Amino acid sequence: MTRDEMAKAVSVLRAQRGTAARPPHRGQRGYYDLPEAARVLAMRTAAVATHVPPGSAVLDLGCNDGRISMALMDAGLASAVIGVDLEDLRIAARPGFTFRRADLTTVDLATLPPADVCLCLNVLHHVVWRASPARAAEIAAHLAATIPVTFVDMGSHTERGKWGWRRVYRRLWPGDEAMWKDIFGDVRREAILRYPAHGGGERTLWKLWRGAR
Ligand SMILES: C[S@@+](CC[C@H](N)C(=O)[O-])C[C@H]1O[C@@H](n2cnc3c(N)ncnc32)[C@H](O)[C@@H]1O
Repeated sequence: MTRDEMAKAVSVLRAQRGTAARPPHRGQRGYYDLPEAARVLAMRTAAVATHVPPGSAVLDLGCNDGRISMALMDAGLASAVIGVDLEDLRIAARPGFTFRRADLTTVDLATLPPADVCLCLNVLHHVVWRASPARAAEIAAHLAATIPVTFVDMGSHTERGKWGWRRVYRRLWPGDEAMWKDIFGDVRREAILRYPAHGGGERTLWKLWRGAR
């Protein structure tokens, strides 16, 4: 094999490896069919509901099929919802629930609508993976500066599973405490729920308040 042929073969292999490591960035259809997602949905929704004032305007980032914010509507806690995701995964349109397609890794955060409450649930680890921890921190800081109350949970170092985001986590942080410190900075926060996650791990659901500590 000549030097040129070798260089070409290496570049093709690198490109293939890059593609395999980065599957296309699509919405997560069927997320709640995953047993680990379905199992904890009710407890996560109840924990959030306890802290949402009735009649709130809700911004739901990474809304998936919208079932958490729709449950808040059913309970009279959300008067209107704007759901944001990579694609519209809702089973049906619903009055009061407006969908907006956007990619949180690139969207201009200033264009996100105002709200009383933001749900930023199980989406920030995708942002860390697809963009950077700095972008996840930028989102957390923006929400804390502009929205009175935000709820955040995300993938944890304690989990097993061959998710792309776990590989990135391992390179970036020794554990969850270091990650939260980087992403939340000095935003005021309180853990309102710890729940079982994939492979014996645990995720933490945080409530963030507007303003710094
Ligand atoms: C793990 S699901 C969580 C769904 C719901 N928020 C929950 O916590 O039950 C993550 C959702 O975020 C969406 N998502 C992932 N990356 C995103 C991005 N960069 N911008 C917008 N949505 C994204 C996925 O399509 C998916 O619906």
